[in-house]
Amino acid sequence: MRTLVTGSRGQLGQSCLQVFAAAGHSTEGVDLHDGDLAAPDTASRLLAQARPDRVIHCAAYTAVDRAETERDAAEAGNATATERLCLACEEQDVALTHLSTDYVFAGTADAGYAEDEPRDPINWYGATKARAEEAVERLPVPWQIVRTSWLFGHGPANFVRTIRRLLGERETLTVVDDQRGCPTYAPDLAALLLRLIEGGVTGVVHGTNVGHCTWYEFAREIARLGGADPDRIVPCATASFPTPARRPACSILRDTRLAELGVAPAPDWRDALARYVAWLDENEERSLS
Ligand SMILES: NC(=O)c1ccc[n+]([C@@H]2O[C@H](COP(=O)([O-])OP(=O)(O)OC[C@H]3O[C@@H](n4cnc5c(N)ncnc54)[C@H](OP(=O)(O)O)[C@@H]3O)[C@@H](O)[C@H]2O)c1
Repeated sequence: MRTLVTGSRGQLGQSCLQVFAAAGHSTEGVDLHDGDLAAPDTASRLLAQARPDRVIHCAAYTAVDRAETERDAAEAGNATATERLCLACEEQDVALTHLSTDYVFAGTADAGYAEDEPRDPINWYGATKARAEEAVERLPVPWQIVRTSWLFGHGPANFVRTIRRLLGERETLTVVDDQRGCPTYAPDLAALLLRLIEGGVTGVVHGTNVGHCTWYEFAREIARLGGADPDRIVPCATASFPTPARRPACSILRDTRLAELGVAPAPDWRDALARYVAWLDENEERSLS
């Protein structure tokens, strides 16, 4: 199978390139320097060049807070780019795996969200990703929408790196304890995408590491695994840490479809985090104490 990965320099895109190539798929990556997917002809040109059987669409405008003021850029990078990619997939008969987000939900459901619950975003980033999902759902070619959340992996910036850096700079860190979600390790999600694609799964699927936590609990585990005292992490409420974009309070993605389909989920988030921290320790000697 020939696979084209968009956003191949991003956190998930990098992992997809590695995982799909290692599984023997002919895999090519494209990113912004190859063309802006929001521009009219980029997607059709890239697909005509690569001639893939499937596109894994990891490219996105992912700056959640900036999206509130850069509304046009977020709309272009998420909604317009995906609409144009969909058109190219339809014209060239290419299957599409589209990556989406827990932020398409409002986060008011304490038990989290199953795949078929209605979209109800509360910030602009979530609204643009919801519009992208709507475009994918109209496709006549086989499509998957895989929603994920709280991604960390081999990119320059993510929550794990931020907490580790701040633990090296400050005695205590205040982290919100009233937003709950599912941390997800990009290499584990890439491996899950491989299982979904090789299994011929279609439709909407929730793909995260198993388990959930608050950002505070996530930060404590990052500290503990890095050899720092977890009590240096201090809980606070979202109200005392305002951000430009509202965040869902509870955006647990329930993977009801994986169970129905008999597809193995990604491992527990604590296991994933331990592997990532071990990788960071080995590759970026950093003391947290
Ligand atoms: N990160 C998370 O916590 C999270 C959570 C839930 C869902 N997701 C979704 O998961 C997917 C992968 O996220 P990620 O964290 O791997 O993203 P990422 O690291 O931000 O990578 C996205 C890549 O897409 C490129 N890109 C942006 N706009 C583009 C455009 N118009 N045309 C072509 N390329 C473009 C970016 O280039 P530049 O860097 O040069 O702009 C970047 O290399 C996205 O769909 C995202 O919405 C992410």
